[in-house]
Parts: sequence; structure tokens; C-alpha cells
Amino acid sequence: MSRIASIFRERVYKKLFRNKILNDQFNKGYEEFLKTGKTSQEAYLAMINLYCKSNGKFTDDLHEKTSSAYPKAAKQNEISGVLGSLETKQYASINETLKKDGYVSFDKKLSGDIVKKLYDYALKTPALTAPKYDKKIVYDENKPVSEIYRFDLQDLVNNPEIQDLIMDESLINIARNYLNSEPIFDFPAMWWSTCFLKEASSEAAQLYHFDMDRIKWLKIFIYLNDVTMDNGPHSYIKGSHATGSKPQDLLNRGYVRIPDEELSKEYKKEDFITICAEAGSIFAGDTKCWHKGNPLKKGHRLALEFEYTTSMFGSQYSKFEIKQCSDAFKKFCAENKRYASNFNFSK
Ligand SMILES: [Fe+2]
Repeated sequence: MSRIASIFRERVYKKLFRNKILNDQFNKGYEEFLKTGKTSQEAYLAMINLYCKSNGKFTDDLHEKTSSAYPKAAKQNEISGVLGSLETKQYASINETLKKDGYVSFDKKLSGDIVKKLYDYALKTPALTAPKYDKKIVYDENKPVSEIYRFDLQDLVNNPEIQDLIMDESLINIARNYLNSEPIFDFPAMWWSTCFLKEASSEAAQLYHFDMDRIKWLKIFIYLNDVTMDNGPHSYIKGSHATGSKPQDLLNRGYVRIPDEELSKEYKKEDFITICAEAGSIFAGDTKCWHKGNPLKKGHRLALEFEYTTSMFGSQYSKFEIKQCSDAFKKFCAENKRYASNFNFSK
């Protein structure tokens, strides 16, 4: 055998050996997850590694297997909610765009009344600040002390407007279709992005990255103030969620943030999309796409985000304690146990 053939064979063996270790780590952790509902750090990191090595195929196959146990429920032709009244064929068309582009923007906006209530809540509720997120401070737009103010998820789940949105059937149906399975409500997030720092912040996810909290998920974003090129619009690279679509040499670096210049060499200019939109605008995204929030030049941005998934394997957090809610929310959660499985109700 020539020396080149021998080196090639050695590399193939090493790769197979590394993949076998990762697969074993994942399989052991996944079995444990099925028994306990808890994900080990080792198994979670193995999933991320296998996603990167297979350019997405690993988590695609896994989603197929895991989601088939929870098929989509049959629904009536028209489902209404904050996205308006949409028929099955309109949901199907939205889903086609999501599957192709990774993102879709909706025509309908959240009502001005709800936007105002959430905005007012954000102006008076203390939030966690970078880099330690260990104490809560009320955001003062005249004196920002952090590039990001993240609201405590435990506080958010007890907000009545957020509870209403968690129950919103139109948003749930978007997730149901994209995940091709009955979804679980994973978490809500809301945060101020500010111009405290004058450069891109990794803390505030202002460099391109992809998320990998779960096997598969969908995020819904709602802007709660007007967002222009000045105050940190969300950007993504169209189609970059798809299996095989990321440059393998970038994935080989692992779960890291990538400078814009490097991605500009890999994707067409027209696939770099920036979402500037008015307060109340709603869009959905599979954040396996390369995405980021742009650094702010002035002002601030308040965004609300929901994540829907089909399996809680992955990032670990405690269940949310619902301390106050409407009867409607309580009833909804009782009737949709799997969807609401991350909520505990205080007696
Ligand atoms: Fe992200």
C-alpha cells in the first residue's frame, strides 16, 4: 500500500472511531433522558458535535424518529389568533416558506394595546444584565449599564399577556406544522438590547451563530418597538438552516460565533436578510440558520421570543412555576398537558 493510501486509511479510521465515541455518548445519554427527562452535558455536547459533523443530518434523522410518537392533531380548516384567521392552505404555504428559507414574516401585527402593555411591563420590571446575570435592574434608557437586559423567564411566564400569547392557536399551529408534530412550549424570552457597547457583543448574540438548544425547534419573534437599521434589527442567512447548507469547514470549528466577513465569502449577498419592522411585527425562524442581532447605533430594541419544540432533550432548565394566571390559562394547560409540560402550578 502506498504511503498516501496508508495516511488516508488512518484518517478514515480515526474519524470513524471519533464518531463511534460520540454516537455512544449520545445514545447512552439519550436512553437516560428517556428514563429521567434529564440531559447529561456529555450527551448534549455529543449531539452538537454530531450535528456539526453530519452538517445537520444527525438531528434531522433524530427528529424523524422522536417526533413520530406525537403526530400532528387533526385541526379544523380555519385557525385564528394573533396571526388572524388562516385556513389550512395558508398555513401550508407559510410552512413551505419556512422549510425553504428558514424564516417567514407575518402580515398581521400584534395589537397596539398588547404591545403597549408588554412595553410598559418591560419599563418597570427588573431584568438581568450582562455579563453575570446575577442581579436584576430596571432598564433606564438614559443610563444603560449593560448591552442586554434579559427578563427572568420565571417572571415572564406569570405575565398575563404572555400567557395569552402562549395559548395563541395561530402561533401554535405554525409550530405544529413546521415541527410536523404536536409541539411543547419550551420557553418565553424577552430582552432589551441597548447601545451600551459600541461594538458587536457576543453576550447579546450580535455575531452570526446558529442555535442548538434542542433536536428541532421553531422560534417566534415579536418586536415590541419599531426596529430600524439603527437599533439592532435581527439578521439571518436565508436557507442556511437546511441540512448540508453550512460550509463544513465552518462547522468543523464547532458551536462558535463567526465574523460577518467569513460568511460573506460563503453565501450570496441576496441571502443576507435583515428584518427592520414596526412594533408588533411577528416573524418565525428556525435559528439553525446563521443569525444575529445587529449592534445598536442608537436607541434600544425590545423583543419577545417564544420557542416551541418536540423534545426537551438538550439544554436543561427547571420547570416554570405559575403563581398567577387566568382560569382560561389553567384550563388550557390542563387540556394540553404535553404542550404545557414545562409549567408547574403553585397550589
Ligand atoms: Fe441565537
